[in-house]
Amino acid sequence: MVSRVIPVDPFDLIIFGGTGDLAQRKILPALFRRFCAGQWHEDAQIIAAARANHTAEEFREMVAESLRQHAPRRAQDSRALTRFLLRVDYVPLDAMTAEGWDVLSEKLSPNRVRAFYFSVGPSLFGPLAERVRAHDLATDDTRVVVEKPFGHDLDSARALNATLAAHFDESQIYRIDHYLGKETVQNLMAVRFGNMLFEPLWNSQYVDHIQITVAETVGISGREEYYERAGAMRDMVQNHLMQLLCLIAMEPPAKFDPDAVRDEKLKVIRALDPVEPHHIVRGQFAAGPEGAGYRDCVGNPRSTTESYVALKAHISNWRWAGTPFYLRTGKRLVARSSVINVMFKDAPHSIFGEEAGRHANALSIRLQPNEGITLKVTIKEPGPGGMRLVDVPLDMSFAEALGPENQDPPDAYERLVMDVIRGNQTLFMRGDEVEAAWAWTDPIIAGWLARGDVPKPYDSGSTGPGDAELLMKRDGRRWQGIKP
Ligand code: BG6
Repeated sequence: MVSRVIPVDPFDLIIFGGTGDLAQRKILPALFRRFCAGQWHEDAQIIAAARANHTAEEFREMVAESLRQHAPRRAQDSRALTRFLLRVDYVPLDAMTAEGWDVLSEKLSPNRVRAFYFSVGPSLFGPLAERVRAHDLATDDTRVVVEKPFGHDLDSARALNATLAAHFDESQIYRIDHYLGKETVQNLMAVRFGNMLFEPLWNSQYVDHIQITVAETVGISGREEYYERAGAMRDMVQNHLMQLLCLIAMEPPAKFDPDAVRDEKLKVIRALDPVEPHHIVRGQFAAGPEGAGYRDCVGNPRSTTESYVALKAHISNWRWAGTPFYLRTGKRLVARSSVINVMFKDAPHSIFGEEAGRHANALSIRLQPNEGITLKVTIKEPGPGGMRLVDVPLDMSFAEALGPENQDPPDAYERLVMDVIRGNQTLFMRGDEVEAAWAWTDPIIAGWLARGDVPKPYDSGSTGPGDAELLMKRDGRRWQGIKP
């Protein structure tokens, strides 16, 4: 099965913060891969803008180096690399002054899609939006792309939304949560709504509980300052885990179109109950063979920022009343593994008698790595000696099932940047969605502050603090293992 490439119309993509880490590590390599795949052609242009006084030639050398590092296989094709670099330009520019804006203006082409990518901190969203308007650079076909963190709490997210809304229509604003660009995250929707098999069982009558795990082995190296202010709740739960929860829990949208999907996600967030303090566990990694402990990393011996969160959430609606959602995420854990486990209820009655054993079904959707699906089904244990039941996995790896051409799925940014050009907002967060997610998150964080809560230490390379196990145990349940 070979993936289809649908070429996009010519565009001008302006990347503010073009010399920064995100642009060099993610955005430009993603554009290069799509260029090599033939999705866009010589008629488009990428203009990076930043404060540094580089010439276009110096900037292209920087990009070539980044591509060799972050898209090494494709960068071996020197002709493709040269052709790509010819489409890349650079303008030294200051968001706070008028410097450089006229030069940028002259380089833009009329009558084509124009996307301004704000690959900068949120404090620059306002000044950049103002300058884009003041210099009359926004056309009817203009989009702006903003990255997370989209605010630090509800008030700051509202302020950012208001700033952007002063200059652009909501239909022009693309708020990135890169998890939505992941091939396997989109697969959640395909699995749920493309199959008859699961949806009839997808509710509290049949599902005992759902576990969402996003475990990482990495620490916070190079991002200490940001992370110390954010913590796992703001960095991962408010956005990535919340999006996964929405896709798993939402009602079927009538169509796979931006507002239909986002309306359904919003309803889930708004139906979330406040989290009880005893339904949440915070952790902080201690020193281990992988390196220093969290507090040493941030140089604050009294830091109370969490690098791990586990919590139990409830969605108060007809479909999910009574089915808890357990979410957990953390740094420096035993393995990198993002997986959703849908744990079904036991059969109501065992015709084989209790001594045969009971085994509930479980559906695991592995998002990364080793993307695939496993369904645990119950069968008879082979051999004589009466009827004893065991469970076995029906295991499918997407890479194996789809063939070798699909071993290397596109990076989330490839999909998302092309969707910006196409004008498809389905995989981007709407302003009200972000605000609703903060409205749920804020009281949790405020509660920690009010109670002087201190995160529990956990060993690097473990599955997190022991209290997270207790959170489950109290409910007579247990976490599924974190496996690479
Ligand atoms: C980012 C977080 O949004 O997502 C990081 O800021 C985290 O802390 C990263 O490591 C995880 O993304 P991925 O794609 O590696 O799962």
